[in-house]
Amino acid sequence: MSSKVVAVLSSILVLVCLVAIPAKAAEDDAAPKFKTKDVMKKAMKGPLLKKVASGDASDEEKKELHAMMVALSKNKPKKGDEESWKKLTGALVKASQAAVAGDAKAGGMLKKAANCKACHTSHK
Ligand code: HEC
Repeated sequence: MSSKVVAVLSSILVLVCLVAIPAKAAEDDAAPKFKTKDVMKKAMKGPLLKKVASGDASDEEKKELHAMMVALSKNKPKKGDEESWKKLTGALVKASQAAVAGDAKAGGMLKKAANCKACHTSHK
């Protein structure tokens, strides 16, 4: 294959992905994709958030973390008020979005937003 053909094919692939992602996001509105417990196990206690915050994560891992944070923000905490939950999870959504976008400040934002104690005291 000539490199031009490869370039055209890969840009088609990118387009397909761009179209597919919003459709998936719409599905997510109906039912949360990750339960709070799962997010804690995989992203908070698990290595995902640390890996993304340290800048060693792949694009896939950054996207996965962002999807988890979005799901977390849509989940209902079993304790605490909604305003506080929105604020705490909103910071995580913003920080993980910055990581996906390749923002150099994302690591610091993530570390600050993933304040285990602040959130557990009010919501766990
Ligand atoms: C935005 C809020 C929030 C933040 C930030 C947060 N947690 Fe949690 N975490 C929760 C809530 C809510 C629960 C209770 C989930 C439940 O039982 O449904 C929980 C539960 C847990 C659990 C128990 C999971 C289980 O299997 O029952 C662990 C472990 C945990 N968190 C680890 C962490 C660590 C480590 C951090 C920091 C790096 C962290 N969490 C940051 C909200 C948060």
